[in-house]
Amino acid sequence: MSLVLSGRKYARVVRASLRDRVNGLDGSPPGLAVIMVGDNPASRVYVGAKEKACKKVGYSSRVICLPAEVTEKDILSLIDELNADNSVHGILVQLPLPDHISDDRIASAVLPEKDVDGFHPVNVGRLWRGEDGLFPCTPSGIVELLHHHDIAMSGKNALIVGRSNIVGKPMAALLLRENCTVTVAHSRTVDLKEQCLRADILIVAVGRAEMIKGGWVKHGAVVVDVGMNRNSDGKLVGDVAYDEVSSICSAITPVPGGVGPLTIAFLLENTFKARSKLPVK
Ligand code: GUN
Repeated sequence: MSLVLSGRKYARVVRASLRDRVNGLDGSPPGLAVIMVGDNPASRVYVGAKEKACKKVGYSSRVICLPAEVTEKDILSLIDELNADNSVHGILVQLPLPDHISDDRIASAVLPEKDVDGFHPVNVGRLWRGEDGLFPCTPSGIVELLHHHDIAMSGKNALIVGRSNIVGKPMAALLLRENCTVTVAHSRTVDLKEQCLRADILIVAVGRAEMIKGGWVKHGAVVVDVGMNRNSDGKLVGDVAYDEVSSICSAITPVPGGVGPLTIAFLLENTFKARSKLPVK
C-alpha cells in the first residue's frame, strides 16, 4: 500500500503555524484583497473558501465583486488603489476573467510585492532565476507537501504533465530548484505513457478524469494529482486512476483532500510573506 499524502492534514499544520506567527506579530494582521469579476459559480466557491481561510488564521480580508461588464480600466484603477493601501498586503484577481479583460495586463498591474498568486512577470523571472519572490500557490504547496513527508527530490526524474502558467510551468521551475531532472509533457508529447514510466516523481495537471492508468506508473514512484474532475458517474476524481495507481506507487495524493487544500494554505503563506516585506501600518 502506498503512503497517502494528505493535503488536507498538511494544510491544517500550515494554518496552525500561521495562526501562531500572526499572534506573534506587532501591528496590523496580514490583509488579503480578492477581486472577483462576474458571477462564475466555481469562482464564487473558491473566493468564499479563501475568505473563510483568512478568518481561520486571523487575517483581514476584503472581497470586491465587480459586474462582468466592468471595464479593464476600472479594474486597473482598483488595483492601483489596493497597491497603495498599506493595510492590504496581498492582492488576488480570481480567474477566469471575462474575454474583454486581459489576464496579462491585470497580472502585470499588481505590485510584485503584493502579487500573492505569483503571476506577475517579475515574480515569474525571480522564480526561474532562483531568486526570492512570491511564487504560485499550488506548486509551492506541492513542494512543501513533499518536504513535509521527507520525500527526496534531488537527482530524481520528475515528469510534469501539463504546461499551464498556473501549475505546470511554475512546478517545473520549483522542482528544478529542488535539483530534480525535470521533463514537462503536454498535449503534443509523443508516447506519454513511456515518459510517465520513467518518472520517479509524477505530477499531473491536465484536467482529464483518470487519464493516468496503473500501467503508466513506475513501481515506487511518487504521484501528485492536481486534477479535479467529475467522471461519468458524477464522482469527483483526479487525473490519475487512483485505485490502480495507488497499488504501484510509493506515495500518492488523493482527490479530494490532496492538492486542493494546499492552494489556499499557500495563498495564506504568500500573504504572510508579502506582509513581512512591505511597510506595515
Ligand atoms: N482560478 C483558478 N485557480 C486560480 C489561482 O490559483 N489564482 C487565481 N487568481 N485564480 C484562479
